[in-house]
Order: sequence, then structure tokens, then C-alpha cells
Amino acid sequence: MAKPPLSMKPTGWFQVAWSAEIGVGDVHRMHYFGRELIAWRSAAGDVAVMDAYCEHLGAHLGYGGHVEGDRIVCPFHGWEWNRDGRNVCVPYEKHPNKGRRIRSYPVAELNESIFIWHDVEGRPPYFDVPDMFAAFGDGKTAADYYPPIPGATLFREQLEIHPQYIMENGVDFAHFKFVHKTPFMPEFTRHDFSGPISFVDFTIAFDEGTTLENATSGVESINAGLGCSITKSWGMVENRTMPAVTPVDEHTSDVRFTVWIGRKPGEENTGPTQYGKSMAAFVIEQFEADVHIWAHQRYSDPPALSPKEFAGFRALRTWAAQFYPDTPAPNGATGLSAVRSHS
Ligand code: FES
Ligand SMILES: [Fe+2]
Repeated sequence: MAKPPLSMKPTGWFQVAWSAEIGVGDVHRMHYFGRELIAWRSAAGDVAVMDAYCEHLGAHLGYGGHVEGDRIVCPFHGWEWNRDGRNVCVPYEKHPNKGRRIRSYPVAELNESIFIWHDVEGRPPYFDVPDMFAAFGDGKTAADYYPPIPGATLFREQLEIHPQYIMENGVDFAHFKFVHKTPFMPEFTRHDFSGPISFVDFTIAFDEGTTLENATSGVESINAGLGCSITKSWGMVENRTMPAVTPVDEHTSDVRFTVWIGRKPGEENTGPTQYGKSMAAFVIEQFEADVHIWAHQRYSDPPALSPKEFAGFRALRTWAAQFYPDTPAPNGATGLSAVRSHS
């Protein structure tokens, strides 16, 4: 496998599970950022994510570890660890081993999902995962949408996809016509890459015969770092989506996609109807068309951009660079400065 020329250890929030996968008392094994991890849910309902190995003699807590109250108990010698990875009990000694700590990760649980904050330098989170509803500030809530779990999700494991590929969709107007078969190339109405959370809005339509001039629909997206985006459509099938790409190792990432379809007005608060299901399937199909490209793409640096593409890609790649541990100075080395128009 080819290693992408971009770091697979970016800083930010990354989805590691859907909430429904980890019930109270569950211990869930996972592998991200080249590490064996466990996620477990305490009796009070809080999720903890930490390295999988017990600091005592190295048992894997995901094989036989169990939750008691707000602690996880190692299956090997019964040592107990809290959500911060602190040892709180050695069952055959008077005192816990206060000096030892299992590496744990900041966790956010929202949008039906569990995210961890990853930063190789161990810095605390400096931005938040945007709430699927509150972040768009339009008064809509989860009750206005069919619940996405189960059914309106896509999970693809260990694809050769780097999280940045998917963010580049936000400046890549030309792909919509070819990958998503839109009748015209969308026009971006907002590109704001000034902070770690970026905003991209564009006009788009799927109905044949629609033109940019008469289109009355579009998409707004909020990108929180490289791992997590939320999108909202307007003027067409009401939907919100959350694509999330999480590095597994130096070559591959897991891809998750969650789709909320807007209920028809006046409809009761039920599970997805046939309409809801078929709309979700359509939205997922569009995303799969992207995944098919990304999974086989080779990162092009410097890319052969057309004059119209230059500014957008430069802005996106400059923004993305802030999340890499070895971030070059903006006019420094690899990646960015190398983005060049072909003309
Ligand atoms: S290895 Fe975990 S308690 Fe001994
Ligand atoms: Fe796309």
C-alpha cells in the first residue's frame, strides 16, 4: 500500500463509533491512529476511550475487562481504572498505584456518535464537534428528522482514504457534475477557512434541466477539523449528513456516514417511512460515489489545477495544514506552497 504524503496523525475530533454500539457496561475494542484502544460506558452513561493495555502487566482490557460503576476492572489481577485512566484500586494492597495512568482521550458524544480528540502532542481540545442541529441555528431539532440509527448509515472499514480527501470536496466544484451527475457545477457562496472550523456553502440541484441561474437549493457545511463535517441541504430533500473519516494506521481509515432525512411536515414522530428510507438510500448512494473515487485516489501534490480551481484548493490545503503535527510554515515546505495552477 502506498503511504499518503499527508500525516495520518492529524489533530482533531474523530468519530470512533456510533453511540448505539456501546451500551452501559459494554467494553468495545477499536484500533485507531495505530493504537489498540477500548471504549467503555460507565453505569452513569459516560463513555471513556483509552489505550487497551493495563499498566500493571499489560493485559488487554478489551478481552475480559468489565465495567463496575465508574471503573473498568482488569481481568488479569483485578486492578481498577477510572475514566481518566487513573488506577483507583489494587485489590490486594491498601493503596492504588497513583503514579500509573493508562492513556485516555477526551470524548465527545453527540450527533448519535462518539468522537475522540486526537493530538500527538497531547494538547487539550481547542474546538468542539458541531451539533448537527444547533450549529445551523435554524431552530430544527432531531424530532424534525427520522432517526438515522439504524439504517441510514454507511460504514466502510480500512479504506486507503486520507481525511483530507473528503474535505477537498468542499472546494471541488467540478466533481459534482461527474460524480454526482448534477445538471450544473455548483457555485460556492461561502468559503470561510479562517479558523479550525471552516464553513462552505454552495448552490446545487439534482433535477435535470435546473441551471445555476434558476436553482433554488443548496448545501451548507461545517467542517470541524479534518475528521468531522456536518452538512445541511435546503430547497431539496431535507437532509443533514455527517461524513467522518478516522485514521486506523499509516495507510487506512474507517469511513462513517450518517444521514438524517427530514420528516414530511405534519408527520408523526415515527421511525423512517418508506419515503425516509428511500431518500436516505439516495443520499448514501451519492456519498458512495465519492468513496469509490477516494478509496483508489492517489494524493496529487502539486495538483494540475485549472485556473478556476486554484484559489479554492489553495485555501483548503492551507487550512488543512494546521492539523498536521509537522505543520510547515504557511510559505514553507511541502504540500501547500506547492499548489500551483497549471496555467
Ligand atoms: S495486568 Fe491488569 S491487573 Fe494485572
Ligand atoms: Fe462529492
